[in-house]
Amino acid sequence: MSLKNARVLVIGGTSGIGLGVASAAAERGAVPIVVSRRQSSVNRALSQLPENARGAVVDLTDLSALERVAGDIGDIEHLVFTAGEPLELAPLAGLTPEVITGFFQTRFVGALTAVRVFGPHITPGGSITLTSGTAAEQPGFGALPVSICGAMNALTKALAFELAPIRVNAVAPGVVRTPLWDALSAPDRQAMYDQSAQQIPLGRVGEVGDTARAYVYCMEQEFGTGVVLTVDGGTTLV
Ligand SMILES: NC(=O)c1ccc[n+]([C@@H]2O[C@H](COP(=O)([O-])OP(=O)(O)OC[C@H]3O[C@@H](n4cnc5c(N)ncnc54)[C@H](OP(=O)(O)O)[C@@H]3O)[C@@H](O)[C@H]2O)c1
Repeated sequence: MSLKNARVLVIGGTSGIGLGVASAAAERGAVPIVVSRRQSSVNRALSQLPENARGAVVDLTDLSALERVAGDIGDIEHLVFTAGEPLELAPLAGLTPEVITGFFQTRFVGALTAVRVFGPHITPGGSITLTSGTAAEQPGFGALPVSICGAMNALTKALAFELAPIRVNAVAPGVVRTPLWDALSAPDRQAMYDQSAQQIPLGRVGEVGDTARAYVYCMEQEFGTGVVLTVDGGTTLV
């Protein structure tokens, strides 16, 4: 399916992986629509995207705002979900019910809610692409990242079954250099990238463009659904 003139709604599309998807889709002639919580993020993203790009401010925890935005935007060909707050990983002792609920709020509840609200606006032949991660296969990441990625993988298959013929897939990145890691100090962040690169068979961490191509593939291909596409430089091979 060509992306020419396709409306591609990217929730979380104002930064990192999502902004990369919006740019890559625009390069193929799509009309990207980027959505996130902060007006400043939307403005910054739009300044980096072609003139036909659109943006909207909405917090995924605000259902009525989501429904209003869905009404304003109208029909779309593709929904891409990449929203997530910066990672602050806590040891098991720190995982209070509030921390656990907060972690799942945007990534899982937000994704499912976005699919429920925007799904009916997807035109025939369209698709949904969610975001998982290789943590599902790497218990060393700790309880929350491992659990959320496992949940997203299962959710992708359940939604693919329920929403067919709309295709529902997910991309599972390994470590990608994005603002998600900004909670770490600059030296700690670089050390984490360097250490990760040493363990990755392809010898480097992912860049936004690496993952963007996977989301574009999920939109353009026409026969894969319920698939979790891993793009990790071989991280999960070792
Ligand atoms: N980077 C990696 O290494 C990596 C690896 C595996 C998986 N992932 C997953 O990939 C997803 C995207 O990560 P990224 O690296 O692109 O992060 P990022 O650069 O921090 O982008 C996250 C985006 O989500 C938006 N957002 C956050 N909370 C939101 C909310 N409640 N409602 C609406 N928008 C919200 C942010 O914008 P505002 O702040 O304006 O809301 C931003 O546009 C995340 O779920 C992450 O866990 C990332």
